Amino acid sequence: MRFMLVFETKKELQNYLFEIKTKKAIIGMVPTMGALHMGHISLVKQAVSKNDITVVSIFVNPTQFDNSEDLEKYPTTLKEDTLLLQQVSSEIIIFSPSASDIYDGNIAAKKYNFDGLDKVMEGEFRGNHFNGVGTIVETLLTLVMPNNAYFGEKDYQQLAIIKNLIEKQKIPITIIGCPIVREANGLAMSSRNERLSPPIRKEAAFLYKTLITAKEKFGTKSALLTINWVKNQFKTKDNLKLEYVQIADARTLQPVKRKQKSRKYRIFIAVYANGIRLIDNIALN
Ligand code: PAJ
Repeated sequence: MRFMLVFETKKELQNYLFEIKTKKAIIGMVPTMGALHMGHISLVKQAVSKNDITVVSIFVNPTQFDNSEDLEKYPTTLKEDTLLLQQVSSEIIIFSPSASDIYDGNIAAKKYNFDGLDKVMEGEFRGNHFNGVGTIVETLLTLVMPNNAYFGEKDYQQLAIIKNLIEKQKIPITIIGCPIVREANGLAMSSRNERLSPPIRKEAAFLYKTLITAKEKFGTKSALLTINWVKNQFKTKDNLKLEYVQIADARTLQPVKRKQKSRKYRIFIAVYANGIRLIDNIALN
């Protein structure tokens, strides 16, 4: 097995990419913040299967954290991540830059117009978060200029915002959304799950279970009744504090007022499980 190529600066990465682009290689990219789990790996596997070379970036982006404690507690596990990626394929390149290399001494988020996609749900509760995400994703994608870039539906709102950014700026990259990978009990995989105690991790299966039943209810009931039903379910759980539940149009992400047969809807939740923030969502139709 050959050693994985790991680049730590933009310059090194670009020199390498220049070489492989002259050979007309098809390039895939998977941006991550590391602490890789099987959710990330499913994106990487899809990229590897559809591209000649896959660039996995590992960068904990300071401009998207509205909470400094969350940033400080973010796990860094580059060694383990490298080993995990090495088992997937040898056609992977890791890019793990420092913040100073990425931001050239100016760690500030750009301001974007995401056509309201950033004003609801995560945007409502996490301040400047999506401007931070937009800034780093635009920087990474325009640096690598892959043919295809892969993002998870776990962060469905982030995926919608990135598609909006790429389309508006006419960046010629195909953005591919990938399904949510779950633990055996239904809990969506997340690096934050490692911070849950075993009993809470078990109890957190309630998020997905509630979404599935909400989907059944939404088949016959209004969005409002379904939302209220979810809120009541969480009232019975001392360890799971519901921050928001929303049923939204899958394209515009605006809350649904009156159901229309021609539209696709999704339900979204954010929950604090003993202080650890978890998000999840599923398609309703
Ligand atoms: P991170 O949380 O590391 O996630 C990297 C990618 O993995 C995202 O596209 C995310 O949606 C996807 N992902 C995470 N858990 C998943 C799961 N259980 N199933 C499927 N996909 C999953 O999202 C970010 O990093 C950052 O915001 C980033 C885009 C890298 C910008 O900094």
